[in-house]
Amino acid sequence: MSIRRLPPELINRIAAGEVVERPASALKELIENALDAEATQVSVRLYAGGLELVEVTDDGCGMTPDEMRLALERHATSKLPDDAIDQVTSFGFRGEALPSIASVSRLTLESRVRGADGWKIDIDHGQPAGEGPAALPPGTRVRIEGLFDKVPARRKFLRSPRAEYAACLDAVKRLAMASSGVAFTLDHDGKRILTLQPSEPPARVAALLSHELERHGVGIDCTRDGLRLTGVISLPTFNRGVADQQYLFVNSRPVKDRLLVGALRAAYRDLIARDRHPIAALFLEVPSGELDVNVHPAKTEVRFRDAAAVRGLIIGGLRHALDEESGRSAAREQAAAPVMWTSSATYDARLVRQPGEEAPAIVAEARALFDHAPAARAEPAVEPVPSHPLGVARGQVAATYIVAEAEDGLVIVDQHAAHERLVLERMRAAREGGTTARQALLLPEVIELEEPECDRLESAAGELGEMGLEIERFGASAMLVRAVPAALGKTDVAGLLADLAAEIAELGGALSLRDKLDHVAATIACHGSVRAGRVLSVAEMNALLREMEVTPRSGQCNHGRPTWVKLGHGEIEKLFGRK
Ligand SMILES: Nc1ncnc2c1ncn2[C@@H]1O[C@H](COP(=O)(O)OP(=O)(O)OP(=O)(O)O)[C@@H](O)[C@H]1O
Ligand SMILES: [Mg+2]
Repeated sequence: MSIRRLPPELINRIAAGEVVERPASALKELIENALDAEATQVSVRLYAGGLELVEVTDDGCGMTPDEMRLALERHATSKLPDDAIDQVTSFGFRGEALPSIASVSRLTLESRVRGADGWKIDIDHGQPAGEGPAALPPGTRVRIEGLFDKVPARRKFLRSPRAEYAACLDAVKRLAMASSGVAFTLDHDGKRILTLQPSEPPARVAALLSHELERHGVGIDCTRDGLRLTGVISLPTFNRGVADQQYLFVNSRPVKDRLLVGALRAAYRDLIARDRHPIAALFLEVPSGELDVNVHPAKTEVRFRDAAAVRGLIIGGLRHALDEESGRSAAREQAAAPVMWTSSATYDARLVRQPGEEAPAIVAEARALFDHAPAARAEPAVEPVPSHPLGVARGQVAATYIVAEAEDGLVIVDQHAAHERLVLERMRAAREGGTTARQALLLPEVIELEEPECDRLESAAGELGEMGLEIERFGASAMLVRAVPAALGKTDVAGLLADLAAEIAELGGALSLRDKLDHVAATIACHGSVRAGRVLSVAEMNALLREMEVTPRSGQCNHGRPTWVKLGHGEIEKLFGRK
């Protein structure tokens, strides 16, 4: 095995593998160079998402022909004059970007310093391909053509022009947000896509993020232990399915750092569903000695000396801002948003389960009370609406919600929650009236259970009997069921008994008989009710609505959640801008 020094072209190609992954990463390097050269105007032109052409022109300090030749050599940089890599404030410092890109493309570098003539150097895949005078205003222009044309291993990882363009646009946006004082233009396939005038950071961010953020955003400005965090984040209700609008900056450097992304996520924990993502543009300022930017070849990650302090500032700062906003935003939302849902919810503490809310495991699917086959899923709104408060069923959504048309608006009912409540109220009314109707089973059912479960059920047999559930001990580990509450209809008796046994164990001797009965009734009701996911006929839906109208407390389910909501005609009109 003989060890040899690699030739410079190969070294550059290896470096290119790290720095330049796709047109957007080459574009990022060129814009960073322009910004480091103190440009006030950066113009970007792309063709085919950068696959054909990436060109960046700036009005920065420019380079002399000698500087240009040096710039194309590896490890040549003007950005570390006193070798102080721990104090670096420029985007670049590795002196690698230009030679790396030049080794995997056709690169043209044109530059002119003020008061001198312009010069141009062509490089073809790392080889000099001519140089000479060039006519251009003071500044620098870099053209990259045919990126990876001669590097098939890379080429095949490139995506469609469309996808590459999206990545380029993202790169431009990030750097434009980081440098709000610089003017930018972006042209793609000959069309002007972006024009950004120099502005203050908030205005620049606003210009590049969703306009909706004006209404749904929360401003951030907090300081702790020499760290400062500013920017804007979205209210939890204004979120996205992908995390594509999260712009994070450390000392004006765009980063995709895992620590920061994780802290942003943590700030929204339990405010936002797991698969949804907030929008954010956050600027973190850290004393430069607290930060190491030299940890990633493309410099998109950084390392903090005190990572916990950074995490704490982000989570604490965002959480505080969101909490403060939660009171105000509700009021503001109502004023701004045309929608106001009328909800039926009122809290009935007596009926709400105790902490650890979960209902005892419902083992088997209850068979429904309504036994006819589904007849139809929707009814066209042709006949006049009779004056029922909860309206006439027009259809079912997601086999879970009934949509009804009332005289004064649109009603949506959670079928399971509503029906559970109805069964419970029926049972309670029957019990209070002393008229508990029971339905004897033609053949008593034998239900096998664990012995302790049987013991518990046996000890409660009297109370259960009062509610129409007649059971007897049947050997060591079985119960015999003779009758079930009539309110239940057909039900899965085995599942019901298992749940009741668990329920009784959970309640122990802590509650009064009445409360215990209510709990037991709730469990029974849950078993007897129409499940979410069951397709209902129009007749079934209407029957449910009519019964809700005459049943007390039917506006909330047994767990205190609303069973229906109404959107009034006025609200609907506002939604469509008719009012
Ligand atoms: N647009 C530009 N205007 C003026 N000088 C430039 C420009 N682009 C590059 N240079 C000069 O060329 C040098 C090399 O650029 P290159 O991008 O290869 O390395 P760098 O920016 O120093 O470090 P890095 O590899 O981290 O980007 C820079 O240090 C700078 O002096
Ligand atoms: Mg650079």
